Amino acid sequence: MARILVIDDEPSILESLNMFLTEKGHTVFTAQTGATGLDLFTKKIFQVVIMDIRLPDFNGLDILQTMIKQKKTSKIIMITAFQDMETTIAAIKRGAFDYIHKPLDVNKIEKAVNRAINILEIDRETPSLEPAKETSANPWVIIGKSEKMRKIFKMMGLVCTSHVNVLLQGETGTGKELIARVIHLNSSFKEDPFVVFDCSAVVGSLLESELFGHEKGAFTGADATTRGKIEQAGNGTLFLDEIAQLPLSIQGNLLGFLQRREYTRVGGSRTLKSRCRIIAACNCDLAGKVDKGLFKEDLFYRLKVFMIEVPPLKERLMDTPLLVEHFLRKINRELGTMVTKLQDGVMEILVNHTWKGNVRELENTIAQALVGCRGNVLLKDDIDKLLNMKNRLPQMGLESYSLAHVEKIHITRTLSQLQWNKTKAAGRLGITLPTLRSKIRKYKIKPA
Ligand SMILES: Nc1ncnc2c1ncn2[C@@H]1O[C@H](COP(=O)(O)OP(=O)(O)OP(=O)(O)O)[C@@H](O)[C@H]1O
Ligand SMILES: [Mg+2]
Repeated sequence: MARILVIDDEPSILESLNMFLTEKGHTVFTAQTGATGLDLFTKKIFQVVIMDIRLPDFNGLDILQTMIKQKKTSKIIMITAFQDMETTIAAIKRGAFDYIHKPLDVNKIEKAVNRAINILEIDRETPSLEPAKETSANPWVIIGKSEKMRKIFKMMGLVCTSHVNVLLQGETGTGKELIARVIHLNSSFKEDPFVVFDCSAVVGSLLESELFGHEKGAFTGADATTRGKIEQAGNGTLFLDEIAQLPLSIQGNLLGFLQRREYTRVGGSRTLKSRCRIIAACNCDLAGKVDKGLFKEDLFYRLKVFMIEVPPLKERLMDTPLLVEHFLRKINRELGTMVTKLQDGVMEILVNHTWKGNVRELENTIAQALVGCRGNVLLKDDIDKLLNMKNRLPQMGLESYSLAHVEKIHITRTLSQLQWNKTKAAGRLGITLPTLRSKIRKYKIKPA
């Protein structure tokens, strides 16, 4: 049971909340003005404060701010007659725990109060993360202690000292660009530029000019001589992302450059030289592309002089907790949030979840969770909700479900995505309309 302070200028509200909350076993204090409320808040300890925004002497939002500055653990619930978005956002931004509209519904108040008490309890029982070390503010740090990551660190150590080309291969979001940057930052060319070029972002003839630059008048619209990415990289690093997307014709040009270390700008005749290091990344099997004739074999061998395979997160699960803590600190710093605790069970959920988007998806999910988190504990419920919202299949992995159950989930989702257009759904599912109808009956699927 909690000590609760209610601040409202309407005596009827004060009285009814007082009665209601006392009946639920709480100890209730009331104040009819902002000044008396603030005075009580400063002198005593309350787990929960319920405060009207419009008070006779003060704006509740200002009092909220003063209370938050006192750094007490109290959870402050604001009540108001305004329904506007700005006030709600302002209150939450200033640290309100919850926001309830008038006319007051005591059930909502009870729910919010219980939630606050529950969170305070979880907060008390949950240890804080260790404070961040100085170095963790460095954005280019690679987290990992697993065998696979340690092997990568060793390989990075080897390539850092030379200026060889590197090929990074791994699923999306595994950290290829981060690794490329760290290699660059640890090389003797770290003062030189690190230039990123996404081979899938530009198409057609523009690609060649982006990479090698062009002379004035080389083509319509070429109003000035422009340096390409190779030239911009100087003696530094050119990071060629999504290298598999490079068209065969440009692959030939790139190979020529790698063999001779010379190139010309589009429309130019002058031979230019560059000593930049190429780090290429690819999230598919480049050797497979070579077999299919989609990637030049010679170029592949030039690039894979030094190849680093970056494993998906599921192959280095022991790194997930370290990554989670790292992202909590990083995102807290970036967003100004102060989530330093994880409720029991949250880490397991994060470790056991299948992150198809690997480290990036894990990072994004934590950021989303922190934005929605009011308080300093990341709750299991919040993470569950977030992961369910992403409309995934349950997290235990499909293997723990029967085929029929998975089929039911898949049909339900397809139908709801297509607004129950059965003909379209049957087409997408690759079954006939009568089969779909019989499955709908069999599994008793209904529109949500
Ligand atoms: N081991 C790690 N430690 C800390 N942060 C990491 C780690 N691996 C990845 N990240 C972070 O995850 C995000 C995605 O990483 P990155 O962009 O390097 O992935 P990628 O392999 O290049 O993905 P894509 O193939 O989709 O381009 C970045 O914010 C990066 O900083
Ligand atoms: Mg990338």
